[in-house]
Amino acid sequence: MDLGSRLIDGKYQLVALAGEGGMASVYKAVVRGAAGFQRTVAVKHIKPEFRALKNYIDMFIEEARVGSELAHPNIVQVHDFCSEGGSYYLIMEWVEGIDLGALIKVNRDAVRDIPWPVAASIAIGTLRGLGAAHDRVGLDGRPAPVIHRDVSPHNVLLGLNGAVKLSDFGLARARDRAASLTAPGTVKGKLSYLAPEVTFGKPNTVQSDLFGVGSVLWETLTGDRLFDGKNDIEIFKKIRACQIPSIQARRKDIPAALAAILEVALSADPTHRYATADEFAHALDQVVKQAVGVNTAAALGAAVAEARAQLRVVDGDTDDLPTTEHRTDEMAAVEPDPDIDEPIEPADTIEPVATVDLHQLHKRHQLFGGDLAAPTTVPGTRRRLTPGPDHD
Ligand SMILES: Nc1ncnc2c1ncn2[C@@H]1O[C@H](COP(=O)(O)OP(=O)(O)O)[C@@H](O)[C@H]1O
Ligand SMILES: [Mg+2]
Repeated sequence: MDLGSRLIDGKYQLVALAGEGGMASVYKAVVRGAAGFQRTVAVKHIKPEFRALKNYIDMFIEEARVGSELAHPNIVQVHDFCSEGGSYYLIMEWVEGIDLGALIKVNRDAVRDIPWPVAASIAIGTLRGLGAAHDRVGLDGRPAPVIHRDVSPHNVLLGLNGAVKLSDFGLARARDRAASLTAPGTVKGKLSYLAPEVTFGKPNTVQSDLFGVGSVLWETLTGDRLFDGKNDIEIFKKIRACQIPSIQARRKDIPAALAAILEVALSADPTHRYATADEFAHALDQVVKQAVGVNTAAALGAAVAEARAQLRVVDGDTDDLPTTEHRTDEMAAVEPDPDIDEPIEPADTIEPVATVDLHQLHKRHQLFGGDLAAPTTVPGTRRRLTPGPDHD
């Protein structure tokens, strides 16, 4: 294929491979306008092995449709959907940063905890985006909630500016659409983040999405998956049993109020969880506000910059800036896209804009943890806490 194949729909010039998910490759691209105007965008393309399967194409079209209707600062904005050479391309807002999966991995490899106010603010951003999807109103003015169904660390994008953006509505279902779009079992959300009731065959709901956020937050705080195992069956069994290890036993600096919130979010019974994403976010917000003196957006931006610097060191390549964990660990194994056989230039090196000394912050957090008293009620709800998963 000639050089023109790198220009999508006559205007989106692919620059670098940015990431790989289960079914798609995402490229960094630029779109040019008059007088030297230039904007960076992300271009998502279904991997070759899935392109012949109608289900996947239908799901990709649905992702574009749902995405285009969701406009929120905590959701990756869909700009355009186009076809080139017989396949579809989804054009999105570009997030200059890394995904949460990469942030967790870098910190785990460095045997370092992500500061809890940073972890909590990532969850808050995710919940704000999720809330907007859940609260979607259809063109007829009636509620038309979108359930994400695939909340996982790789689908939460973190900007160098401290922005948190929920992405990948590839499995999302708008309730106003036929549920039969995908044959059951064709594609699943990442197993580890499923809610227990979903493993028993119940439908995904607002509450199962919220369980996913709880599971991702637990992992952000500990560096370990909440439910892990040697194979899918083992993970499945663990989710069904839903035994949540004490977060405070894992990290002494975590305030009791945050542990209490996680306990609600990760209740086995969906009716014991937060009623809405907003309620969950509000509860976390109250705890983060007590971490006096922390500008969480700046701290998050600094954590993202530091993780990217770390990834560059691991890569041993100062020019080819990794955007994702996939890019560093699995790129060697990634099959080249046959549609794009021109070598793709490496992404520009962006200077991080770190303004916060993370190591200082780590030290200060130990102080925050001790200062916060255990609540008798869970912040943001009227529920009282009793030990164990079966509180009411
Ligand atoms: N808008 C974007 N800006 C920057 N990187 C992105 C963007 N969208 C996706 N990525 C990267 O590409 C990866 C795969 O994208 P995703 O949409 O999740 O694909 P899949 O549906 O295959 O999981 C993400 O985990 C992320 O690292
Ligand atoms: Mg994904």
